[in-house]
Amino acid sequence: MTILVTGGLGYIGSHTVVELLNNNFEVVIIDDLSNTERFILKNIEEITGKKPIFYPFDLKRKELLKQVFDAHQIEGCIHFAAYKAVGESQVKPIDYYENNLFSLINLLQEMKERNISNFIFSSSCTVYGQADTMPIDENTPLKLPESSYGKTKQMGEEILKDFAIAHQKKVTLLRYFNPIGAHPSAKLGELPIGIPNNLVPYVMQTAAGIREKLSVWGNDYPTEDGTAIRDYIYVVDLAKAHVKALQKLIFENSETVIDIYNLGTGKGSSVLEVVHAFEKANDVAVPYQICERRAGDITIAYANADKAEKELGWKSETSLEEALRTVWQWQKYLETREI
Ligand code: WQD
Repeated sequence: MTILVTGGLGYIGSHTVVELLNNNFEVVIIDDLSNTERFILKNIEEITGKKPIFYPFDLKRKELLKQVFDAHQIEGCIHFAAYKAVGESQVKPIDYYENNLFSLINLLQEMKERNISNFIFSSSCTVYGQADTMPIDENTPLKLPESSYGKTKQMGEEILKDFAIAHQKKVTLLRYFNPIGAHPSAKLGELPIGIPNNLVPYVMQTAAGIREKLSVWGNDYPTEDGTAIRDYIYVVDLAKAHVKALQKLIFENSETVIDIYNLGTGKGSSVLEVVHAFEKANDVAVPYQICERRAGDITIAYANADKAEKELGWKSETSLEEALRTVWQWQKYLETREI
């Protein structure tokens, strides 16, 4: 069974391709390489012993997208390809709307015209904004995200709900909390292109001496240690959830056209807890300084992931420390490649 994975050489996409290949799916990847490097494809092959088919282009190229659907009997799609830097989206909103929404719409046009169902969308807990109660479950009312990035995720979900209902296509929205970590082989991980926006890659580069100090954005939040709390989920656990969701879509005869799942550990960790866990897990120092809050940040978010456990038979299995140990191994691997 052939599955199209857009953004399949990206951080979460590449880990998901590995799990799909390990579960005997055929995989076709479309990735424009705007936020990854080609060596990731070779590493996927080394890890799995299998060669996914790879097309290096941008999903906004409708004519090329048609050729892929003409050439392969695609029976499902996992859509990761999107710009995802929260801060960047504030200075380039139109680029984010054009890329993230046109790519999705082009894909859905092809799925509709060829009557293909089984679509999984990479969404985000950012659609909840600052939720009023914790943990956050799928019935929590959505709030308009502050960032244009977050708005493209929320708009993407709305487009997909209309698509599923109007065309009776089965769609699953997966709302990730904070993905972290690297593959146990140390051959896949979060590729730091430019200055990392996210906490864990920045911690990794600070420990490696690439960055002088970590800026802790705010210690005046109403939390135990004053720093903001998030739900950090190990990327391989997250990848496995995609396989479970796909298997449910394809093999379970359910009338439901839209399924929504939160993917998190159900546990919140503060910024300083992550820093100290990284230091303890890897026996390294992470120098930091307390700075002003980052505009748009929320205080706290962690998941109620019971629905995914009940309906997908999935739950996160990896501790924060174990995930952070894989990050350090990935950094050591990158040093051998001088990246
Ligand atoms: C986590 C915490 C920061 C960097 C966003 C998106 C989400 C997902 C992940 C894309 C916050 C603090 C961070 C730093 C810090 N999307 N921090 N110093 O903002 O929760 O989520 O990225 O992949 O959809 O919304 O993740 O890792 O940027 O921040 O103190 O140098 O770490 O203030 O409290 P965030 P993050």
